Formats: sequence, structure tokens, C-alpha cells
Amino acid sequence: MDYFNYQEDGRLYGEACDLSRLAEQHGTPLYVYSRATLERHWHAFDNAVGDAKHLICYAVKANSNLAVLNVLARLGSGFDIVSKGELCRVLAAGGDASKVVFSGVGKRVDEIEFALEQNIFCFNVESVAELVRINEVAGRMGRKAPISIRVNPDIDAGTHPYISTGLKENKFGIPIEQAHSIYRQAAAMEHLAIHGLDCHIGSQLTEVAPFLEAVDKLLVLIDALAADGIHIKHLDVGGGLGVRYDDETPPEPKVYAEQIKAKLQGRDLTLVFEPGRAIAANAGVLLTRVEHLKPNEAKSFAIVDAAMNDLIRPALYSAWQAIIPLDKTLERPSAVYDVVGPICETGDFIGKDRELSITEGDLLAVRSAGAYGFVMASNYNSRPRAAEIMVDGDQAFVIREREQLTDLWRGESLLPES
Ligand code: LLP
Repeated sequence: MDYFNYQEDGRLYGEACDLSRLAEQHGTPLYVYSRATLERHWHAFDNAVGDAKHLICYAVKANSNLAVLNVLARLGSGFDIVSKGELCRVLAAGGDASKVVFSGVGKRVDEIEFALEQNIFCFNVESVAELVRINEVAGRMGRKAPISIRVNPDIDAGTHPYISTGLKENKFGIPIEQAHSIYRQAAAMEHLAIHGLDCHIGSQLTEVAPFLEAVDKLLVLIDALAADGIHIKHLDVGGGLGVRYDDETPPEPKVYAEQIKAKLQGRDLTLVFEPGRAIAANAGVLLTRVEHLKPNEAKSFAIVDAAMNDLIRPALYSAWQAIIPLDKTLERPSAVYDVVGPICETGDFIGKDRELSITEGDLLAVRSAGAYGFVMASNYNSRPRAAEIMVDGDQAFVIREREQLTDLWRGESLLPES
């Protein structure tokens, strides 16, 4: 459920804000996020786990705008980060470092040092080489680093190959068969403190079953480790819960979290979640204006002012996102269009074969753009990145200004004259 709905006047609103007005005022392409939707999604996870010990670590990569992070930090959220940059964003947004988990396969020495200085909750370690590195850095700093090992439970999450992470052939985690012996190695390292066990099996999963299968496998491992004197205090089940883009019917966060929690009954384990998309995707839309309609013989194109540099998911993953008019009452001829951007690439499309009643100048919203939208934007074709707005009831706040042309070459310089 989100707070982007048509009201009686036939216009699309974000909470109580008329999105057409925001587009007129701030220009397009324009990202708009809804505070109430972000909060609702976060609470859905939090309420489902109830009194059981848990930590919700929002995956910063999904949408790292400071205002988004701040809204979640105010709720008491933790954060899942994958770089020093993301940790600095969390701190700048008022987030609590002691609720931060640090994921990722390639943590640099300076990133490990900084995370240790900030006293993060845990490092999710993805290889033996990384264990060795963290142990060395912690030793040099006179510290003990809290760690979890990210175990790859070899589960087919049935998602797009680019975003499935739990299979053997993926670069992520440590194969489950090797996990026990690697935990032993970690236990022997002086400057590491074993705190948890971690996994993340993929993204945009639309069933609970693969998560439960992973948890079952991990609980077997936790018991085997306990028998060996290695005590796991928290189980991090990663992120990956899917959302509805089209006609998918992913489980509600409540159902997902309750079922995982049920597996942990009777155990003294803190449950950690790392949801990104499930919190942010449907909390955002991308507004764009139709520049031209171009009826070709084979296809008709609606050329809009948003492009793959603003939202790359369709081009990169053939992802489908709904495209809807901001004003349903406008009477226009209907036709089937490929909705494309102005970038010089055939792959630059936002949606294909969409039936739309539009004419030049009309405004459209691309739905479910709150996660992996702006964060994946680039300046390709020297296009300034879009502005971002957060609506809160009937108020709208600019949370990132539109880039200026001079921002495009900030930091660049010419060679000296010879
Ligand atoms: N934790 C880890 C270790 C992850 O790698 C990810 C996402 C998450 C949590 C959050 O997953 P989520 O709850 O958002 O599914 N750009 C792609 C998605 C890439 C996901 C990468 N990892 C897309 O636009 O679909």
C-alpha cells in the first residue's frame, strides 16, 4: 500500500500533494517520495516482529537520500551499508552507527578502519581474505571487530539473474558447506568477535518459501556451531522481499517477517532484516513530461524527458514499471507506445508497448521508482540528475536540488597551455 492515488478530480496525488503542480513548479524529470509510505513500510516489518529481539537495517543502496535516511533514523531504524560513503550518509542523516551492518565483498582497509572507529553493529564478512584483513586492521587499532559470516545457502530465489545472489555461482558469501570450518578459523583470530550469521539470497523475491528454506539451513549451521562452542547471537536474513510492480503478489512484510520469526521460536537470537526495495520502491514515483509523439510504421514512440540515466532499471533488467498519467481527465486519443528517453541508445526505454492516452506536453508518472531509481542515476549524455522531493501530508520539500549544468563538469580541468 502506498500513498500515491488519484483523487476525485482525476489527478494523481502523493499524499495530499497534487503531483502535476509539483511537476510544474519544480520541472521534470522529478522524483517524488512519500514520507507516510516509507514510514508505513518500515513499521510493517517492525510491528510484525513485535517483542522479539530484532533490528531492521534498511538497505541504504535502495535510496540513500539524506531525508529518506533521516525519516527512517527517526523511527529508530538501523542501516545496511556497503561503503564508507553510505556510512557517512547514515551519520549525516542522524543515523545510529551502533545499528549499522556493513555488507559487501570488497571492503577497503580505510573503510574497515572508519567503520570500527564508528563502532558499527557488525561486519558481514564475505570471504576468508576479508576475515584476515578485518582481523589485521582491528588488531592494529587495538580493537575487536564484531563479525558475521555471510553464508551462501545455494537457494534459487527465482529472480532475475543479475539480482539473484544466493546461488553457488554468484560472487557473494561463503558456500554453506565451508561455513563451519571458516567460522572455526574466525574463532581463532584474536581481534574478531563472532556475533552473527548472515545471508542474503536475492532481491525481488515474491514467495516466502526460499527465505524459510534458507533460515532452516542456517539454523542447522547455528546448532552445529553451538555444539562446537561458537555461539551465534544474531541471525541476519538479509533483504530481498519483493514488491508489486505489475501483477506480482509478494507476501506482505508482516507475513514474511512473522513466518521467519516463527522459525526462531525458543531460541535466543536477535533477528536482523535488511529490506531496501520493500520499504522504498512504492514510496516513490518519477514524474516525466512527454516531449514528442513519434508514430513510426512498426512502432509508435512517446519520447519523454526522463531517460535511462534517470531510471536504468528497464534498460538494465528489462524491469517493468507502471507508467500512468498525472491527469486522467484529459481527453486524448489512445495508442500503444514505447515510452523512450532522449538518450542515444536503443536500450533507452522506460516502458514498452504501453497503452496511453497522451499528447505532447502531458505529464506521466513512473511508479515504484523509490528504490534503485535515483541512486542508480548517471550523467550519461551530460544530463543533469533530477531533483528529488519528499511529500509529507500537504507539504512538499525539495530534498535534492536539480543538478545545474556547471555541476556536470565540477572537478574537471583543462590541460595547461603549452
Ligand atoms: N542486503 C544485501 C546484502 C543486498 O545485497 C541487498 C541488495 C539488500 C540487502 C537489499 O535488497 P532488497 O530488499 O532491496 O531487495 N538494482 C537492483 C537490485 C539490486 C539489489 C542488490 N542487493 C534492482 O533495481 O532491481
